[in-house]
Amino acid sequence: MARGRFITFEGGEGCGKSTQVKRLKAELEASGIEVVLTREPGGTRLAELIRGLLKEEFEDPPCDRCELLLFLAARAQLVKNVIIPALDAGRWVISDRFSDSTFAYQGYGRGLPLDVLRAANGFACWGLVPDLTFLLDVDPETSRLRMRDRETATGTAADRIERAGDDFHRRLREGFAEMAAEDPARIVKIDASGTRDEVWERIWTSLKRIP
Ligand SMILES: Nc1ncnc2c1ncn2[C@@H]1O[C@H](COP(=O)(O)OP(=O)(O)OP(=O)(O)O)[C@@H](O)[C@H]1O
Ligand SMILES: [Mg+2]
Repeated sequence: MARGRFITFEGGEGCGKSTQVKRLKAELEASGIEVVLTREPGGTRLAELIRGLLKEEFEDPPCDRCELLLFLAARAQLVKNVIIPALDAGRWVISDRFSDSTFAYQGYGRGLPLDVLRAANGFACWGLVPDLTFLLDVDPETSRLRMRDRETATGTAADRIERAGDDFHRRLREGFAEMAAEDPARIVKIDASGTRDEVWERIWTSLKRIP
């Protein structure tokens, strides 16, 4: 049986990842492909508990290294127990965030050394690299407005990481763009401005690049 494909979505908060991930799953299923949808951190019971810890408010918030290791612990469990078995069974896996978020947030954002992240992340991923990554790129003002709409619509407040300052979010965006420039064969940068349908059309067109 042919191995499935592994597709990830990356980008800052409110750029539209979760919206487009659902659309991609629906469209692939409509064309007869079995799809497993997952998200990071999370996707297994243990990893979802770690997600809860990462969003928790603490008097002594996790230090940068603790935060990194929690993300990687969740990833190791997800890759081993969900993603690899699904790919082996011929299913396609779509993940809402994956390794590139670690480089953007913990590396470019928090300033942890990229070579340490590469080694630690490779270990946590069991060497797995996505076949294709969509980087949804949008200006900070648009993502702020989208997040505000979502907070109003769902009644949820921004979490600890989402509340990090403008400078942090600027470094994130630059980090993602730099990674896309360094690995253009895997990472497709998508202009995520415009309507949901317009963004979707850009993604669907780029999917042709998948190996
Ligand atoms: N192209 C679009 N135009 C307008 N609103 C959009 C668009 N795409 C998504 N939205 C809305 O913006 C909000 C944020 O989108 P979504 O939740 O998909 O972003 P996200 O990248 O998953 O964010 P997070 O990183 O916080 O999970 C949602 O309320 C969504 O319905
Ligand atoms: Mg989301």
